[in-house]
Amino acid sequence: MSALHSVLSQRIQAAAAAFGTYDPELRSSTKPEFGHYQTNLALRIGNELKQPPREIAARLVSELQLDDLCEPPEIAGPGFINLTLLPQTLAAAVNNPETFESKNQKVVVDYSQPNVAKQMHVGHLRSTVIGDALCNVLTFAGYDVIRQNHVGDWGTQYGMMIEQLLEEGIAAESLDLEGLQQLYERSRKHFDADGNFADKARLRVVALQSGDPETRAMWRHMVEVSLNEFDKVYELLGTGLQRTDVVGESAYNDDLPQVVEELDKQGLLTESDGALCAFLPGFQGRDGSPLPVIVRKSDGGFGYSATDLAAVRHRVNTLHADRIVYVVDHRQALHFDMIFTLARTAGWLDVPAEHVSFGTVLGPNGKPFKTREGGTVKLVDLLNSAVQRASDRESTARAVGIGAVKYADLSSDRGNDYVFDLDRMVAMTGNTGPYLQYAHARLTRLLSKAPQATEVTQLTEPAEQRLALLLTGFAATVEQVAETLQPHRLCTYLYAVASALSVFYEQCSVLSSAGETRASRIALCAATRKVLQDGLGLLGIEAPDAM
Ligand code: ARG
Repeated sequence: MSALHSVLSQRIQAAAAAFGTYDPELRSSTKPEFGHYQTNLALRIGNELKQPPREIAARLVSELQLDDLCEPPEIAGPGFINLTLLPQTLAAAVNNPETFESKNQKVVVDYSQPNVAKQMHVGHLRSTVIGDALCNVLTFAGYDVIRQNHVGDWGTQYGMMIEQLLEEGIAAESLDLEGLQQLYERSRKHFDADGNFADKARLRVVALQSGDPETRAMWRHMVEVSLNEFDKVYELLGTGLQRTDVVGESAYNDDLPQVVEELDKQGLLTESDGALCAFLPGFQGRDGSPLPVIVRKSDGGFGYSATDLAAVRHRVNTLHADRIVYVVDHRQALHFDMIFTLARTAGWLDVPAEHVSFGTVLGPNGKPFKTREGGTVKLVDLLNSAVQRASDRESTARAVGIGAVKYADLSSDRGNDYVFDLDRMVAMTGNTGPYLQYAHARLTRLLSKAPQATEVTQLTEPAEQRLALLLTGFAATVEQVAETLQPHRLCTYLYAVASALSVFYEQCSVLSSAGETRASRIALCAATRKVLQDGLGLLGIEAPDAM
């Protein structure tokens, strides 16, 4: 809700006080002829009191005190009240954009989370892009944001891989990420085929988890190689993630026995086939059998659930989170539901925890994105092809190519799947990143030819008013994204701004107009440029000055 919107709402509520306490139901008007805002409160009240809504509307309007902000209110149709802001009200709102104060609240955002010894894939792209945008938006809206890159760097597979390395007599140092991935595949086959090797691998996991120096050194090398590779992708992508944000699964190793102990003390654990499990009411498989959270496996090892439970405790107790956000694909919905429920039952989680779930990236065939051979598409290759596609733009190829990919990801409702279609992503028309970047660059060029803009002083044309009205909604949109964690709302808003801008260009001359009109329109352009620049910045998208 913008500041204007809330002032108007209060005034309407005051005018309706004689009827009771009502939600003013103030909405942006759907058509220019209905003014800037409209409310159907009179219809609501009329229905309740069984009185003609138009009469109620007339009484509301006579009570309404809005002369300082609006034109005289109009009653339309069955009893709608339409409000049109005075040009000076709009101008003042554009000239004094709202800012946010610190909310004194910490939000932990768990995102990106690639896995060691594996290439990052499109799922990690989504998590990284959405997570970054949310961190930017939350920060802008006044939250203290703590980024946590929950890298997958722990588990039984490292026992297998290290044992395989030792058997093959290869130095850990000789392997790059590609090599690690192949090593993983060899060790997996070996593990499945050879019981003797499997036993050794299991012992190796115990050595790793209990801190045996030689084992740890080899593991650390695998982690380093992988993180260095992830950093290259992050660099190309341009993310807000730093190495210091990496708090991988392994970071919780020492807390795991205590997680078990405390759950056990509370009587929440049951032994099932040698594993320690928590069975929570309401969680059942398709066949109706109870679903466990496996806290400790039958071989004594800890898995994904145990580290996530420890992570919750760390985030609440040590990081003092007021809100925890997990940006992870939709397939893990049940996992997080169970982890949150168990953590709440155990008394570890007393703040909101949200799974910011997202859909799958699809290939041109409408199936999950894979290489022709059915393998995972490497994220670096994908990003490089986007930069390549935008390379006719020379100096801005990276900004445009990467911006196009990010915008395509962010602009559809994150719950939906989308097809990775580079041609559509880099298009200069429609709701795309390059379209918004171009709108920004064009404004920059225009403003470079104009004197320093001062203030918007007149808004006579409908196209000017429409653009100005949209600009006043920026802060409210950011706040809404901070609440709903849906970045596409910001994209939809920015696209509306850019579209209103092009109507404004068509209907109002800027540089070739004169006097106060010219100065005011230049200021309106400057305010628009600022909104586009800030908005793209929040989405993690660069806004080059020229394109
Ligand atoms: N590494 C996991 C994966 O690639 C995602 C981790 C999500 N975060 C978490 N706290 N479990 O699927």
